[in-house]
Amino acid sequence: MRLLAIETSCDETAAAVVEGGWMVVSSVVASQAQAHSAFGGVVPELAARMHLERLGGVVTAALEPDGGDLRALDGIAVTRGPGLVGCLAVGVSYAQALGLATGLPVLAVNHMTGHVLAAKLEDPGLEPPFVALVVSGGHTDLIEYRSHRDVRLLGATRDDAVGEAFDKVARMLGLAYPGGPEIDRVARDGDPLRYRLPRPALPEFDFSFSGLKTAVLYLLRELPRDDPQVRADVAAAFRLAAVETLVTQLEAAVETTGATRVVVAGGVASNPLLRARVRERLAGVAEVTIPAPALCTDNAAMIGAAGLVRVGVAGFETAPFDPDPGLRAYAS
Ligand code: KG4
Ligand code: ZN
Repeated sequence: MRLLAIETSCDETAAAVVEGGWMVVSSVVASQAQAHSAFGGVVPELAARMHLERLGGVVTAALEPDGGDLRALDGIAVTRGPGLVGCLAVGVSYAQALGLATGLPVLAVNHMTGHVLAAKLEDPGLEPPFVALVVSGGHTDLIEYRSHRDVRLLGATRDDAVGEAFDKVARMLGLAYPGGPEIDRVARDGDPLRYRLPRPALPEFDFSFSGLKTAVLYLLRELPRDDPQVRADVAAAFRLAAVETLVTQLEAAVETTGATRVVVAGGVASNPLLRARVRERLAGVAEVTIPAPALCTDNAAMIGAAGLVRVGVAGFETAPFDPDPGLRAYAS
């Protein structure tokens, strides 16, 4: 089973070829981060236009191991949602046109399920049930992944997603977009204990990051913002507060559900401090799978992984579909 996968939900134009047995044959990601950086965030119109310009070349590059031969494929998997409507439309139209031209079946994949199932590429033996912490630019979810057909939301953010908080705090510190890797870079030289920031603990595994973000804003008002050491210390304090908040809720969810397997996924899961803290705190409690950093941030291999799971569960049955920007996370 060999699938071509396409991902264009936000600001990465991505294509991959994945093979049954959880092998990534190719994975190509063209990031638009630089183009959006000047605006401090993703500009939807610009993102859609750039997908349109780049997707053909990205797919061609992903097909290179097969010498560009589409006959090596059994199907096409594409992100249907959630995401930016104009961006999703580029990927879905491309996939459907290719399906029509080649006769290959086209599978609709939920972007958030893709993030979670990227863990299969890291650990092919991973099977539900497991608890997953899914942390990206748009989501901060704790889910109970009981089976491929039964995914329950245990908790979610009530305001900002944690990735969004990283991006906004980076902006306050005069750092580039996306903020996560920038905060990480600056925090390396910082003292995380010089400033104390709140660790909001909400009931029922929910999260809230807007208070933490505002606390950074107020803190910075009192400080010389152009002092590199101050910036490093604030970045380190914020990173630690965000990571500890996530890990505390994850630990509570594991305890309550009695889960023995845990997945951490999404762009923020590429954060080295989060990866280390989760492993530390769950050592001896649960087996932890965190995809390699390149499989945590948006990519198409994860969409291929979710496509493979889908074929395994329900076969190649495909109904016609439109892009769905508001698709409920983890819904099939
Ligand atoms: O999953 P993703 O690539 O796209 C979405 O589906 O949203 O996640 C992007 C988010 C951004 O907010 C970015 O700042 C954050 O992931 N991110 C990080 C790191 N790398 C990316 N956050 C913290 N630490 C990182 N190293
Ligand atoms: Zn994503």
